[in-house]
Amino acid sequence: MDQAILQRYRELVEKLNSSARQYYIFDDPVISDAEYDASYQELVELEKQYPQLITEDSPTQNVGGSALATFNKVQHVPPMLSLENAFDENDIADFYERVYKAVGPNAEFFLEPKLDGLSVALIYKNGKLISGSTRGDGSEGEDVTANVLTIPTIPHLVKDFSGEVRGEVVMLKRDFQALNQQRANDGEKLFANPRNAAAGSLRQLDANITASRKLTFFAYTLLPEQFKTQQQNIEQLRAMGFCVSKDVALCRTLQEAHAFYANLEERRADLDFDIDGVVFKLNDLDAQKQMGVASKYPRHSIAYKFPAEQAQTTVLAITTQVGRTGNITPVAELTPVTVGGVVVSRATLHNKDYIEKKDIRVGDRVVIQRAGDVIPQVLYPIVSERNHESQPYCFPTKCPSCGSQLVQEIGGVCIKCINMNCRAQLVERLKHFVSKQGFDIDGLGARNIEFLFEKGLVLNPADIFTLESRNLDLTGEDGWGDLSVENLYKSIRQARQIKLDRFICALGIPQTGRAISKAIAQFVKSYNGLLQMIRSKNYDELLTINGIGNSIIEDFRSFFENPENLTVVERLAGNETSPGLISVQDVELAESSLLSGKTIVFTGTFSRFSREEAKSLAEQFGARASSSVSAKTHMVVAGENAGQKLQQAQKLGIQILSEEEFLAMLEKK
Ligand code: IVH
Repeated sequence: MDQAILQRYRELVEKLNSSARQYYIFDDPVISDAEYDASYQELVELEKQYPQLITEDSPTQNVGGSALATFNKVQHVPPMLSLENAFDENDIADFYERVYKAVGPNAEFFLEPKLDGLSVALIYKNGKLISGSTRGDGSEGEDVTANVLTIPTIPHLVKDFSGEVRGEVVMLKRDFQALNQQRANDGEKLFANPRNAAAGSLRQLDANITASRKLTFFAYTLLPEQFKTQQQNIEQLRAMGFCVSKDVALCRTLQEAHAFYANLEERRADLDFDIDGVVFKLNDLDAQKQMGVASKYPRHSIAYKFPAEQAQTTVLAITTQVGRTGNITPVAELTPVTVGGVVVSRATLHNKDYIEKKDIRVGDRVVIQRAGDVIPQVLYPIVSERNHESQPYCFPTKCPSCGSQLVQEIGGVCIKCINMNCRAQLVERLKHFVSKQGFDIDGLGARNIEFLFEKGLVLNPADIFTLESRNLDLTGEDGWGDLSVENLYKSIRQARQIKLDRFICALGIPQTGRAISKAIAQFVKSYNGLLQMIRSKNYDELLTINGIGNSIIEDFRSFFENPENLTVVERLAGNETSPGLISVQDVELAESSLLSGKTIVFTGTFSRFSREEAKSLAEQFGARASSSVSAKTHMVVAGENAGQKLQQAQKLGIQILSEEEFLAMLEKK
């Protein structure tokens, strides 16, 4: 191999990695996007030509790989502990006293921001990242190695290092906002705050999803200990190529510590990421050991939490929104006010019960809170400032959209509109139908759906697919140019082919979201299979699916027992006698899977899944699960205490797999 090529390869890898770090952490790109793209392309070309060059730290290796069926478990040694919380100066003074008593009055404290994300443990062996796991319950977490490998700020290689690095995975505020903006455009559910977004993005069985989200890792713990102080640990972590917090301080006195805390609290809204306090750590690591651990918390460290970001404002009005399933959500319209750097003019009041319990009234001065959440909440009214003439809020008894009588949800707190033809619900259902979760029709955003509905052009999902053939003249209407109409028709045409799980999800059946739709699709296998279930009313079969219970089945049943819904479904996808407007693809059996077409018997008990889960996993991969061993059985998966069936399999010379071997086989193509 030509040395010059090798050298160029390393140059590119290092340049791309360091500029990614600079970009992700410091929001301070050192090279332009174009230069990054050009270098990345050059690297891809080099790797194509000389695959033997590829090293694990190459940014091209930050990809997901194939989806897993379940997360494996990882044991944490030593356990990943929590921190005790301090809420005021007295709590901190007590903590100082506790430390002084144990290790003397010269103790120094290392102060770090308390990052609001999720903690992750990374294990390196001989310089190579071999495992990444979530905290879980502290002793046992989930193996998210494939996922952490997609995070640009996590080095895949750290020269000569064997040990563990722990820290926090967060989503930067700007990345969170961009993600939610995109989700809002696509009609997907928004993440409540950056922490939820980070957790939801990391814990994905399909690491390609993690790769598509922007996550950032900050390191704060280095094991095994090689240094004397936490400050040295942090410096070493930085030298090893990890991102560490910039806002740290070594403090001795309470005054110094308070000044640091107050300063950070003031700058909190301006930081790139959410923090919810300051962690005080005894700096001397030997002294830390000496203080030890009390139940779940180390005695040498404490988290001094910031108060939640709150503000006062006035309720101008209380309005109600009708969701696609008819739930009525009350919203407080507020005099705009800044909370934690964000201007807030609306806040959720959750439901009727919440308003009544807190006695929140129109005209009230109220305290609102944004605990890193997108949707702020009204906490409570300031009753002493209330106008004497004010009246308790009367929750509407009629739907604000269709005027029909509202009802209390059975066994729940929601007030609902149960008129299936309620305009607001129809529009919300249409928005859901075309969203990313369903038909994913570009060019049919919320505004266009409202427009088409108001004009009477699209009143139900099937109407979308007859739009073009109706030869309507949409051009000239507000916002509709020739091109946008043509693009819309094009994306509607493209959406005529849809996978079964998306089709089911698009229908907007209460409680049947992405995951449940997928499971049902796997079960019925095809649109015809679904029709058969509807005709035979045999919905209880779905109970065999893990995660589906009676309540989901009841919603599913009542959706299809409503003749209007069934008519729309049949207009869309056809029935036994006539074709529909669209074509629903059968669930593909994973043809390339090693299990497809095989008959498998599960016997004994398993530690990672129940027998039912195992069967449904096998079926997802194209196998047939059977309960008895015969000459037709291809494989037997044997768990603990497997008995007769295992013996039978041995006698017949059938392939026998352990639980691990079975899982490994699922991942192999
Ligand atoms: S030290 C006991 N340092 O806070 C050791 N933790 O409530 C705990 N956290 O699970 C780890 N920022 O997820 C440490 N600078 C920081 C931290 C931090 C956030 C989280 C971490 C931990 C939780 C404990």
